[in-house]
Amino acid sequence: MPWGVSYFLMKNSEYAMHDRAKATRTTPEQAICGPDAALLASIAESAVARSIGNTPLHRLRRYERYLGLPETIELHLKAEWVNPGGSIKDRTALSIVRAAIKSGQLGPGRTLLDATSGNTGIAYAMLGAALSFPVTLVVPGSASEERKRTLAAYGARVIYSDPYEGSDGAIRLVREMTSVAGDDFFYADQYNNPANPAAHVATTGPEIWRQSDGRVTHLVAALGTTGTLMGTGAYLRQQGAVQLIGVQPAEAFHGIEGLKHLPTAIVPGIYDPSLPDRIMGIETEAAFEAARALARVEGFFAGSSTGANLAAAGELARELASAGQAARLVVIGCDGGARYLSTGLWELG
Ligand SMILES: Cc1ncc(COP(=O)(O)O)c(C=O)c1O
Repeated sequence: MPWGVSYFLMKNSEYAMHDRAKATRTTPEQAICGPDAALLASIAESAVARSIGNTPLHRLRRYERYLGLPETIELHLKAEWVNPGGSIKDRTALSIVRAAIKSGQLGPGRTLLDATSGNTGIAYAMLGAALSFPVTLVVPGSASEERKRTLAAYGARVIYSDPYEGSDGAIRLVREMTSVAGDDFFYADQYNNPANPAAHVATTGPEIWRQSDGRVTHLVAALGTTGTLMGTGAYLRQQGAVQLIGVQPAEAFHGIEGLKHLPTAIVPGIYDPSLPDRIMGIETEAAFEAARALARVEGFFAGSSTGANLAAAGELARELASAGQAARLVVIGCDGGARYLSTGLWELG
């Protein structure tokens, strides 16, 4: 068994072999001879690719009142769950795929491979189906059942890594795979790929600036690969004096899917620690409570990392209110709540 991963493959009855991987397999030499013009053109005509981005920014007036904030403090939520793959990671995946096709790294004979806790994987799998390239994903066994089934629905091949090692375990396993069978794969490497933050420099940042009439004062974004904060933050910083707030789980062992506790995790190569003004640690229960309150108070059904962002924004908003400052906070709504129906998030007793 290659890759030294027989244990995970054996334990893994759920992964599905992707037929397209075999159908398009050619030699590695052919795979790196330049951009695949047909694949590139298929992005332009893909209805799914074209419907990524341009998400709404909603002012949360009822949630502001629920928190007891004064009128001078505004909370705005960027509703990323309306992307076709259901999360902000559609932007990342599209940017990575487009850059890889342009550079000739993804084309005939190459399978896209990455480690992903779920949302980026869903986006890769969706784009693989829409544009006809094969996708193999290494996902922590702890990912929610909804995410696993969604990947299978799009026809991606999935390998599960040790559930106790989280996203870092998935990264280690992918590195092992590429060291043995590197030429067969385009390792998308969302943690180190500059096309990840570039997606947000090109789209999320300009959208927020435009939608907030250039009056955003704070950006609150959860940290996974850190691409959202790095890219959106870099763009907004160029436009004005916007405070950039990163949100991470308060502890290493947590239940907020998609997020990293940076002090104890493999730090992504795209992370620039000098960019954020502040990093806030949020307890899992506080993140869950904020997501539940959002559903009940506003009627928006979002996931736990959105809850973490809202919990951090609430804390910050109260500090600003007691200092008598006016502010327009933009909070990233990373994905929707339906992706977590089998998790503790919606066990409401
Ligand atoms: C649900 C969820 N929220 C937030 C994030 C963090 O986004 P980023 O990777 O851009 O830091 C992720 C990343 O995968 C995620 O899956």
